[in-house]
Amino acid sequence: MARQELPALASEPLSAQVLAGKRIFYNARDPRMSAEGYLSCATCHLDGDHDGRTFDFTGRGEGLRNTTSLRGRGGMAHGLVHWSANFDEIQDFENDIRQFFGGRGFLTDAQFASTQNPLGPPKAGLNAALDALAAYVASLGPSSLPRSPYRNPDGSLSAAAVRGQTVFQNEGCASCHTPPRYTESGMGLPPLLRDVGTLRPTSGGRLGGTLSGIDTPTLLGLFATAPYFHDGSAATLEDVFRVTGGVLVPAENGTPYGGAWIVNQFTEQNYDDTPRGRAFVNLEGNGQGLRLTGVNGGSGGTAALEIRFSNSRPLGGSIGLRVRVNGSLWQTVSLPGVGNDPNWRMTNWESLWIEGFTLNAGSGNTIELEATDWAIAIDEVLIANHNRLQQAQPHRRVLALSPSDRADLIAFLRSLDRQTAAGSAPPPSAIFADGFE
Ligand code: HEC
Ligand code: HEC
Repeated sequence: MARQELPALASEPLSAQVLAGKRIFYNARDPRMSAEGYLSCATCHLDGDHDGRTFDFTGRGEGLRNTTSLRGRGGMAHGLVHWSANFDEIQDFENDIRQFFGGRGFLTDAQFASTQNPLGPPKAGLNAALDALAAYVASLGPSSLPRSPYRNPDGSLSAAAVRGQTVFQNEGCASCHTPPRYTESGMGLPPLLRDVGTLRPTSGGRLGGTLSGIDTPTLLGLFATAPYFHDGSAATLEDVFRVTGGVLVPAENGTPYGGAWIVNQFTEQNYDDTPRGRAFVNLEGNGQGLRLTGVNGGSGGTAALEIRFSNSRPLGGSIGLRVRVNGSLWQTVSLPGVGNDPNWRMTNWESLWIEGFTLNAGSGNTIELEATDWAIAIDEVLIANHNRLQQAQPHRRVLALSPSDRADLIAFLRSLDRQTAAGSAPPPSAIFADGFE
């Protein structure tokens, strides 16, 4: 058969510059972008979206960072970018390209040398390809946000979401997540970073310095962007209103007792390398435990723990863990089975958040985590004392709402989408000029 060219599109919806930028965004083979076809922007942001992963950017002077969806953010339209607000133009991704992607970069070395500080002199206007990349990212405006499946078929808000909108207003959420962008983030320097109690030691820094807080994220498109928070520490929307940061204690820094022991994976090769710090504590049976002393209860009061654990139980099973605080049994909590195979090989690590016990004021508290049966492994324990839980009140106040108000609020949050961003309801089947359906 004779070869034919069949045009897939009658006319290209993207402008020449945005189309050129989109090609660069996807092109790992371009040596300006990366070495040996290693990666391109699309590796983590396919279709401008996120990949659901949290990367360890400690080596970049940052920390654990949850991939952001670029949809709806319009490049710089939501202010300084990144969780730590460390870039003031999309052209600053030249830094990541040169320093971490193994790319040659789009600028000349001299141009890069004089513009390397991401908050210093601009890189815009120096290179057409880099400007095209920025134009493509900027084109991911409100209409690139997906339509929320939690809306009614005609695009209107469900009755629960309408009620939830009132809860959102009454709970003061809009003071930081300000409509219509649902963020207060802007271009001002120094940026407005908020400490809403979510920081952990693993949150790392900002541009190699101290991280004092997080640039308030938009809530548009939220239904499709789990996990949440800068470090992915909230797995679900419900977790956003419970989980906080705190002090992180590697289990191997505690004291194993009753026959429990530290597994050091530099010497013990039976496990994989997913435990943090390459060590964990194994509780091999009833009465074996891990003791944490010198726990700081702050001003004293109700506190929480997040335990990173593995165990010998199948998925769907469970095993009891006694939690003792200052010598008295607080509760035997149930750790869900993680499904290791073989079951003694501790690999599938999970996190459990528990709260409601009381710590005394000051740093003289002792917490003991003790097995009721064979076998539990503990990798690390996050301790959020009363002061920390208070700091997280902008979000944790939701826990004090009635279950129905809480469900309504979450119904509203799940409905925030392109229609919310556009301010009016586009027809349900509209095809947008930028090609997103
Ligand atoms: C290895 C995965 C990965 C690659 C490759 C990648 N990103 Fe990202 N991207 C992330 C992560 C993780 C974050 C959150 C990091 C942070 O906030 O510090 C992010 C955040 C962003 C943001 C911030 C959005 C906002 O509003 O805060 C933009 C813009 C962005 N990336 C654009 C790009 C561009 C352009 C490229 C290609 C030059 C690229 N990314 C390549 C993982 C990646
Ligand atoms: C004082 C400012 C402030 C207030 C008030 C506030 N938030 Fe936030 N919110 C933040 C900051 C900052 C973050 C990012 C925290 C992080 O990543 O560690 C955040 C994160 C979130 C997230 C996760 C977003 C994501 O993409 O990961 C949701 C959902 C959220 N807030 C909803 C709410 C709701 C609902 C309320 C009202 C009950 C509220 N917030 C009140 C500042 C605020």
